[in-house]
Amino acid sequence: MTATKGLEGIVATTSSVSSIVDGVLTYRGYDIDDLAENASFEEVAYLLWFGKLPNASELEQLKKDLNANASVPDAVIQQLKLYPKNTNSMAALRTAVSSLALYDEEANDMSRESNVRKAIKLQAQLPAIVAAFARIREGKEPVAPKADAGSIAENFLYMLTGEQPNKIAIEALEKALVLHADHELNASTFAARVTVATLSDIYSGVTSAIGALKGPLHGGANEAVMAMLEEIGTIDNVESYVQNKLANKEKLMGFGHRVYKNGDPRAKHLQKMSQELGKITGNLNWYEMSIKIEDIVTGQKGLKPNVDFYSASVYTSLEIPRDLFTPIFAISRTSGWTAHILEQYENNRLIRPRAEYTGPATQKYVPIEKR
Ligand code: SDX
Repeated sequence: MTATKGLEGIVATTSSVSSIVDGVLTYRGYDIDDLAENASFEEVAYLLWFGKLPNASELEQLKKDLNANASVPDAVIQQLKLYPKNTNSMAALRTAVSSLALYDEEANDMSRESNVRKAIKLQAQLPAIVAAFARIREGKEPVAPKADAGSIAENFLYMLTGEQPNKIAIEALEKALVLHADHELNASTFAARVTVATLSDIYSGVTSAIGALKGPLHGGANEAVMAMLEEIGTIDNVESYVQNKLANKEKLMGFGHRVYKNGDPRAKHLQKMSQELGKITGNLNWYEMSIKIEDIVTGQKGLKPNVDFYSASVYTSLEIPRDLFTPIFAISRTSGWTAHILEQYENNRLIRPRAEYTGPATQKYVPIEKR
C-alpha cells in the first residue's frame, strides 16, 4: 500500500451533484457559465438538492420556506453574545451551527423528508447567524430577517446593515453565491460526506464542513487575498511584493488549484464583477492591483487565479468586512454540502480508507523500571 499525498487524483466516490471535467464545472449537468449568467441562488440550491431546476411555483415555495426558516433560535443568539469580541468568524459560525442541533427536535431524524427540511433550515439560518455575529461584535443588536425577502442575498445584506440593500449589491452577491455553491469533492464537502457516512446527523456534517472550509488552503483563501492586497497597499508595491513572495517560495493566496490546471472557470466571472463594482464605487485600486498580481504570477509561475482571488475585491467593493468573506463562502456552499449529504445518505457506505504505515517495526513492551 502506498499513500497518495493529499489523495491527489484519487476518485473517492460517485456523485451526480456536480462535476469538473476538462476544466468545465457543471451543477447537475448545467454549465457554471450558464448558471452564473441566468440563475438565482435559490434556483441553484433547488437544482443541487432535487436534481432539476424549479418551476415558478416550486421556486416560490422554496423562497417562502427559506424566509420562514431564517430566524435563529434565541438561545443561539444569546450564545453569540457570549463569544469573546475577537472570536474568529468561522470559529463562531462553526460553533453556532453546531449548537443549532440542540434546539431542533428533529436533529437526529434520518428520514429524507426530515433531512431535506433541515437542509433548507440550515441554508436559511447560516446567513442570519453570520449577520448576527457581525453586528453583535460591534455592540449592535441583530436585525431580524425580512419575512418577505426576495432572496437570501437580499436578506443577508439587509440583516448586516438594517437597511434595504441596493439592486447592484444584491445582484453581485447573488452571482457570487451561485459561483460558490458546489464544487465536486472539495475538502469541506469530503469532510461532510465522511462525517454523515457514519450515519451521523446533518448538523454534524455541516459543522465538519465549516471546520474544513476555515483553512487558508481552502475557503479561508479569500480573506488571505484581501489581507495581501491591504498589505501591498498600492499598485506601485505589487511587483516587489510578489517577486519577494515568489523568491521565498511562499504561496500566493488565490492562485493554483488541485483540480484546475488551466484556470478556474469561476474566476473570470468574479474578475468581471470586481471591475464593474470598482467602476460603480469609483475605486478600481483593488481590481487593478489584482490584475497586476495575476499578470506576474501567471506569467512567472503559470499559476492561474482560483475562485478566491477576485472574490476578495468583489466583497470589499460591497463593503463587506474582510473576515466575513469565508462565512459568505460557507453560506453559499451550504447548498452543495447539504446536497452531497442527502446523496450520501441515499446510497451510503462507511468511508474508511487505509494508511500506509511508516512507523517503527514491531516492538516488545518494556517495564517502566527498565526504561
Ligand atoms: C478553494 O478543491 C476545491 O475545489 C476548492 C475550491 C472549492 O470551490 O471548493 O475550489 C475552493 O479552496 C480554492 C483554493 C484556495 N486556496 C488558495 O488559494 C491557497 C493557495 N493555493 C495553494 O495552496 C494550492 O494551489 C492549492 C492548495 C489550492 C492546491 O494545492 P496542491 O494541489 O496541493 O498543490 P501544491 O501545494 O502541491 O503545489 C504544487 C506546486 C508546488 O510547487 P513545487 O513545490 O512542486 O515546486 O505548485 C506550487 C507549489 O509550491 N503552488 C504555488 C501555489 N499553488 C501551488 N506556489 C505559489 N503560490 C500558490 N498559490
